[in-house]
Amino acid sequence: MVKCTLGIIGGGQLGSMLASAAKKINIETVIFSDDQNAPAQKFSDNFVFGKYNDEDKINEFVEKVDMVTFEFENIPFETLNKINEVKKVLPKPSINKIIQHRLYEKDFINKCNFRTTLYDSIKNDKELKSKTNFVPGIIKTSTFGYDGKGQYKINSMKELEEINLDYNKEYIIEKFINLKKEISVIVTRFGNQKYEIYEPIENVHDDQILKNSKIPAEISDEILKKSKNWAKHIAEELDFIGTLCVEYFVDKKDNLFVNEIAPRVHNSGHLTINSHNISQFENHIRAVCGLKRKETKKLFDAKMINLIGNDILIYKDKKFSDNEFFFDYLKKEIKPKRKMGHLTILKK
Ligand SMILES: Nc1ncnc2c1ncn2[C@@H]1O[C@H](COP(=O)(O)OP(=O)(O)O)[C@@H](O)[C@H]1O
Ligand SMILES: [Mg+2]
Repeated sequence: MVKCTLGIIGGGQLGSMLASAAKKINIETVIFSDDQNAPAQKFSDNFVFGKYNDEDKINEFVEKVDMVTFEFENIPFETLNKINEVKKVLPKPSINKIIQHRLYEKDFINKCNFRTTLYDSIKNDKELKSKTNFVPGIIKTSTFGYDGKGQYKINSMKELEEINLDYNKEYIIEKFINLKKEISVIVTRFGNQKYEIYEPIENVHDDQILKNSKIPAEISDEILKKSKNWAKHIAEELDFIGTLCVEYFVDKKDNLFVNEIAPRVHNSGHLTINSHNISQFENHIRAVCGLKRKETKKLFDAKMINLIGNDILIYKDKKFSDNEFFFDYLKKEIKPKRKMGHLTILKK
């Protein structure tokens, strides 16, 4: 028996993994994407291709589903809100309005009394040139950034002097953190104080893109407890339903900073497909479809390697051992810096 037909906005690898997890627990999915070749359509039951502001296409999509979720946060708020008037959207659209914008997101985290990097907004060149106490730092577009896109490292006063920004966009500047490591905590919230939470995941980035992730993270007990508590608190404060990820920085003095919040399943949680009895994707589906919460347990320690650009070519013909799980995102075109697949290795 089909319990619910879930609409998923976005058709990339996160959409594919959500659709696969849904199938496993007998939930039908419809993917809505503005990419005709969206890989997730290969894993879903139905597919609607259209722009995210095309009302006819949105209506066509909405008619096919009982409720709606999304795999990326940069969907126009108006689109989510309009859909929410007809079919429930979870997590609720107002959350996206905060998290889509780096300034509102950081203001929100500070209001929760959690530490972020030092940051400020930049609206014009005069403001930019005055931000000398943020050097060395990093300028980020306030909206639509991912995998380091829209980011400019500023290593010296000279670079601050010389950089030209397009002020049709909004920016923030952040002070650079002397990183010891990066970790993330993934939590699925089912309702008031009802959670399944994964242990912190240790992440290595290369050129601002996630390269690999592992559990357990090599961190102190204090950082472990603090990072889990902060993530739970953030989910509660947002009244979040579904899976959310909090990305953290740990500096050389073992201070914890929230880097950013992803209001969705996250790349660092791909290993949960194989390392846990219930993956971040299945927990997300369970939470948004109102299914029963099941105790989530780790079965194995694990490591995940992102296959970026041409990396995928080596793995396509490789033979794998029974503790290795290769995922090909089935993207039509290989591009540098594009996430093409991943490999999870379990420690058995
Ligand atoms: N203030 C900072 N200090 C040190 N490293 C940073 C800082 N901001 C970003 N980075 C590096 O760049 C990566 C991507 O930045 P992030 O803000 O998470 O943007 P994105 O939205 O592209 O993931 C981080 O995971 C980290 O490795
Ligand atoms: Mg990030």
